[in-house]
Amino acid sequence: MYNDNPTLKGISKEIDEKKQGEVFFQGTDAKTGKHFYIESYGCQMNFSDSEIVASILAGEGYSPTRNMEESDLILINTCSIREKAEDTVRKRLRIFDKVKSNRPGTIVGVLGCMAERLKQKFLEEEKLVDLVVGPDAYRDLPKLIGTAEEGDKGINVFLSREETYADISPLRLGTNGVSAFISIMRGCDNMCSFCVVPFTRGRERSRNAFSIVAEATDLYEKGYREVTLLGQNVDSYKWENPESKNVVNFAHLLERVAKIHPDLRIRFSTSHPKDITDEVLHTMAAYENICKYIHLPVQSGNSRVLKLMNRTYDREWYKERVESIYRIMPDCAISSDIIAGFCTETEEEHQDSLSMVEWANYSMSYMFFYSERPGTLAHRKYEDDIPLAIKKRRLQEIIRLQNQVSFRHNQADIGKTFKVLIEGDSKKSDQEFKGRNSQNKMIVFPKKEGLKAGDYVQVKVHEATSATLKGELVG
Ligand code: 5AD
Ligand code: SF4
Repeated sequence: MYNDNPTLKGISKEIDEKKQGEVFFQGTDAKTGKHFYIESYGCQMNFSDSEIVASILAGEGYSPTRNMEESDLILINTCSIREKAEDTVRKRLRIFDKVKSNRPGTIVGVLGCMAERLKQKFLEEEKLVDLVVGPDAYRDLPKLIGTAEEGDKGINVFLSREETYADISPLRLGTNGVSAFISIMRGCDNMCSFCVVPFTRGRERSRNAFSIVAEATDLYEKGYREVTLLGQNVDSYKWENPESKNVVNFAHLLERVAKIHPDLRIRFSTSHPKDITDEVLHTMAAYENICKYIHLPVQSGNSRVLKLMNRTYDREWYKERVESIYRIMPDCAISSDIIAGFCTETEEEHQDSLSMVEWANYSMSYMFFYSERPGTLAHRKYEDDIPLAIKKRRLQEIIRLQNQVSFRHNQADIGKTFKVLIEGDSKKSDQEFKGRNSQNKMIVFPKKEGLKAGDYVQVKVHEATSATLKGELVG
């Protein structure tokens, strides 16, 4: 779910490169006349959190602006997943510093994972930062802004075991009016040894299922046609109704959301290979509007490395899960996350990651070289012993192979007709629409009068690169 390395092609995450740092905007009239400007980095969860933050600020009379020079409050929602992500944030802070020196009184705030990781240190290192707010403390923003307005520093990095922001209706920002994120859980209990997320986002907790269904229903009624249910590990979603004591698992939740309306598409991210059940797969198969696409990060194709990574499954287990997916849903696409050059990884073990790309036939992958993160299990237990040049070479090999596999995967779609949800104009031309099929592949096709974003159409594919399909309307 992350992207922080726009220089290497083929590694962008679900939030594509262009959207990284995207400034959220939606014109509203503010009661106070005050404006906030927010940039978001990292995973979809961060983008979703920014919409919660926007909603809280709107409640205080702030309205969003695209122009940081005219804003009273500049916020950056940060990512700590790799060193590169943090470097990007520090560069942006230099820019904000300049704006602030031209416009004294502007409040600069750091939100999200980096705020949580660095805590007080942020205020010491970055003198012009006024607010440091962790992912579970956004309700406290109005008070912290008040503190900053009085000239003090506002900090709250308390991690909660309960906070899910279930009652806050996100202010949809930068929206295409067709697809929206819904956060269904927060935190992560998995402790993958390379990962900083359990430290920055705290313990796993699931959101009230009724509030999720209500949010999805509201989106459908407002014209949205696709929701993506978000969590670090959606397969371990579990919510107990305090009254009936009924337990809702992820398969149940998927079903409840799918039943809202057949024209509301459901996607989800991220699945964990150790937790994804056949029950979930059968539920996906049973509902046409649950998209046939699973992001199932393997991280490494080698069992010894997976053990060091503390992923709690091995190569055979992962292959069995992939086989079950293709058995239950032959038309399902699978994508992955892969880390090259984890501690002690040998050339043979790296070959196992390559062979997994080929074997699993991933439609696409997000690929990274290992970046040691302070405080993680791997940092404490293992030496980061693979030289950077070797990590990068292995990463390039994985990217090259994935590009070939994606190309082949897409070529196999030529001649097929897909149901596509129109998202808007294609990047290249206002004469063309873009939209996704159930398998999450972007398809570009010439427009026809009367059609608009949010409509479903049938598109026959006649051309494919490793990234996009091209086709024409049929029927
Ligand atoms: N170094 C490199 N990649 C990492 N990821 C998580 N932590 C690290 C790290 N320390 C990758 C994993 C994860 C994705 C979100 O980011 O592949 O699935
Ligand atoms: Fe990190 Fe593993 Fe949790 Fe994903 S499942 S957020 S990789 S600890």
